[in-house]
Amino acid sequence: MLDVPAEDASDVTAATPVVVSPAAVEFDRVTFAYPDGAPVLREVSFAVPYGTRTALVGPSGAGKSTVLALVERFYEVGSGAVRVGGVDLRDLPRTDLRTRLGYVEQEAPVLAGTIRDNLRLTLPAATDAQMLAVLATVNLTDIVGRTPYGLDAQVGEGGVLLSGGERQRLAIARTLLAAPPILLLDEPTSNLDARNEAALRAAIDAVSAQRTLLIIAHRLSTVVDADQIVVLDAGRVVAVGQHAELTETSPLYRELATHQLLVA
Ligand SMILES: Nc1ncnc2c1ncn2[C@@H]1O[C@H](COP(=O)(O)OP(=O)(O)OP(=O)(O)O)[C@@H](O)[C@H]1O
Ligand SMILES: [Mg+2]
Repeated sequence: MLDVPAEDASDVTAATPVVVSPAAVEFDRVTFAYPDGAPVLREVSFAVPYGTRTALVGPSGAGKSTVLALVERFYEVGSGAVRVGGVDLRDLPRTDLRTRLGYVEQEAPVLAGTIRDNLRLTLPAATDAQMLAVLATVNLTDIVGRTPYGLDAQVGEGGVLLSGGERQRLAIARTLLAAPPILLLDEPTSNLDARNEAALRAAIDAVSAQRTLLIIAHRLSTVVDADQIVVLDAGRVVAVGQHAELTETSPLYRELATHQLLVA
């Protein structure tokens, strides 16, 4: 190594191309309409860098859930491209996409069956130790102790009854088991009590450690923490930035932050 001459840096100019690793998720001038409908996304562009948190905000009907549906390729884009890890979704086998993405729905459904059944949906071979570990991460350890049945307790009627906040955290625990590098999360809109709110926030922090998070935000605390906020209005990106700057520069964002996002 010492014999290798030092590199001559004099040829490095502003024109030297810089190799930029692809974003985890990228929307490139995406226009989309549901079948037989008018466009609900128009020329939407934004990029979610690896390992960061991006929050989507906007009025009801702005197209937030549609954005997540397109990342999951539930629909094909009309024009433009959605890329995951730099690869156009049309060139990525669906099974590949599935292993890269985790999705936590807004009103997380808990299926009938036991705690174990619910967790094993994403990782059928999960061990008890793995299940207890993810439950601890989302602060749900106590549901295992609520009945004598432990992980085999029914979650439905007659079993460990779960609140809305606990259901969402069980869904997050299930997603954690699969350990997807990219997580799509639709935050619950329901008001949670202070304890559940804090637990949900801690669970989101736990899942976003070392992963990429694209989250539809309904809470002020979520946007304040985000590395990047994308403001959608009627299918268009109207602002991108962080909380402090958007509060100054985007009237719509200011309005949302002041009157619509939940303050826990
Ligand atoms: N499956 C569907 N078929 C047809 N139109 C749809 C469908 N889903 C959503 N839309 C329409 O697309 C537009 C955007 O909806 P979307 O659900 O993405 O909004 P959103 O920003 O998630 O709103 P909210 O905050 O209320 O959840 C709306 O006009 C909606 O009526
Ligand atoms: Mg929605």
